[in-house]
Amino acid sequence: MAKWWERAIFYQIYPRSFRDSDGDGIGDLAGIESRLDYLAEIGVDALWISPFYPSPMKDFGYDISDFTGIHPIFGDMESFKRLLAAAHAKGLRVVVDLVINHTSDEHPWFVEARSSRDAPKHDWYIWKPMKRNRLGLLRKPNNWVAQFELSSAWWPNEETGEWYLGTFTRNQPEVNWRNPDLRAAMYEVVRFWLDLGVDGYRMDVVNWYVKDAEFRSNPRNLVANPDIFQRHIHDRDQPEIHGICREIRVIADSYPGDRVLIGEIFCRDPRQAASYHGAELDELHMAFNFDLLYRKWSARELRGSIRRWYDALPPGAWPNMTLSNHDQPRHIWRFRGRNAAETAARSRVAACLLLTLRGTPFIYYGEELGMAQGIIARKDLRDPLGIKTWPLRSLGRDGERTPMQWDAGPAAGFTSGKPWLPVNPGWKYRNVEAELTESGSLLSWYRELIVLRKASVALREGDIEFLDGGDDDCICFLRSGGKERFMVALNLCARSRPVPEASARVLAGAAGAAGAAAVAAAATVLASTHRARGQAVGELLLSPYEALVARC
Ligand code: NOJ
Ligand code: MG
Repeated sequence: MAKWWERAIFYQIYPRSFRDSDGDGIGDLAGIESRLDYLAEIGVDALWISPFYPSPMKDFGYDISDFTGIHPIFGDMESFKRLLAAAHAKGLRVVVDLVINHTSDEHPWFVEARSSRDAPKHDWYIWKPMKRNRLGLLRKPNNWVAQFELSSAWWPNEETGEWYLGTFTRNQPEVNWRNPDLRAAMYEVVRFWLDLGVDGYRMDVVNWYVKDAEFRSNPRNLVANPDIFQRHIHDRDQPEIHGICREIRVIADSYPGDRVLIGEIFCRDPRQAASYHGAELDELHMAFNFDLLYRKWSARELRGSIRRWYDALPPGAWPNMTLSNHDQPRHIWRFRGRNAAETAARSRVAACLLLTLRGTPFIYYGEELGMAQGIIARKDLRDPLGIKTWPLRSLGRDGERTPMQWDAGPAAGFTSGKPWLPVNPGWKYRNVEAELTESGSLLSWYRELIVLRKASVALREGDIEFLDGGDDDCICFLRSGGKERFMVALNLCARSRPVPEASARVLAGAAGAAGAAAVAAAATVLASTHRARGQAVGELLLSPYEALVARC
């Protein structure tokens, strides 16, 4: 029997941007609670809520100053408990963010640690003495970089005459996982939210937890962002991290109800990411597959990426798929066509891909509406990375964090106040209220595909076989499970294309028939951007940007 998280469709909520209940312009927990009906109605099964803990918000909540509290902007512990209970009452699971690679520099642990080399918690962080070279200049301990500062990751601490390590911003000091007390304290954090009843964790940058014990410099590499011209062999992916994953897994497994661990593995190599399932499947339940976040709109490229991910997984591991999240430009922008109509058509094909592949799909809030990538004026930028890298728009992350578009009212119904980031211009027609009632909307298409996936063993849990012969324009695959066989045929190009031969044969039910594309197929249309549902597939020619799911 498949686990709930294998069958589930996840929906990521960036809490600042989902729904503001108190008019301060920032989304909050009560706001999320007030929109649970919507989430239940579109049929997603589980929510991942990005951080809502106390934080100075230097990295919008990924800099935590109290692991077991709630930031007053978002509500309080009561509002969290209410949200969790209300979600559970609607059959929605809730997964929360676990950010234990670093803390905020305002976390009491760090405040104590930095005060003196003798402080009991000093060793809970990573330090190196500040040394001068022969010219009397301060030398950084090695070449490790701070991802969001585009500079060295070593930051001065005058009180102790040492550097501390912060590989995101200077405000996110890295903890020392080799210290047993720190480790125990972090495991208490893990238990805290599980005790409260959350269904699992999305774990932040798992593959950065432990650094090289000798602090060796990384070799140079001529690949820019996100690797900043280095091969990160010494500051990431150290072997000890697998042991930590196993320990956290033991904790999660000690709770009833299949709590899930989904880890962010920040790297470009899918094999590296896949390794965090553990060869014995005793580490993370799912390591995020981020490869599709970096792929172009191309049948060859997307298919290659998907197949590589399947191949990289250890036997028995369950795949997952993400097209957009809070760190990368929305896929509607990355996959954009030459005009709005083409972009809209592509987003339908992309939705069909995401929701019919083998592997748990993750939907990023607003993607179901076709929410655009925001274009944020310099004065409105909030993301530290965006501010640092302006005007390189695709590196900043505010564009994918704009307010959820609920209705055609002021501020798209997100807030009665001034939204913390500007609302996208298209909100008057692209919003939940309008799209819920419009049968041709992207939201209706997502809902149709979600209903289909949930009703079908083959789509949810079945096997996958690519049957497109490596076609340049189309991706086709067969999903089979139980007694069902579904063909998914996607035309990623702006011209009509024949269904590739191998899939056409299956659809036509005529094994070996030459020129099957000319045959009219009797397979039934279950969902299509172009054909009527319930009819025979008929002509085996795919219209421009057609997505077709057929029973065969
Ligand atoms: C990855 C998170 O997804 C990102 O938003 C955050 O800034 C960094 N980790 C640092 O926590
Ligand atoms: Mg608010």
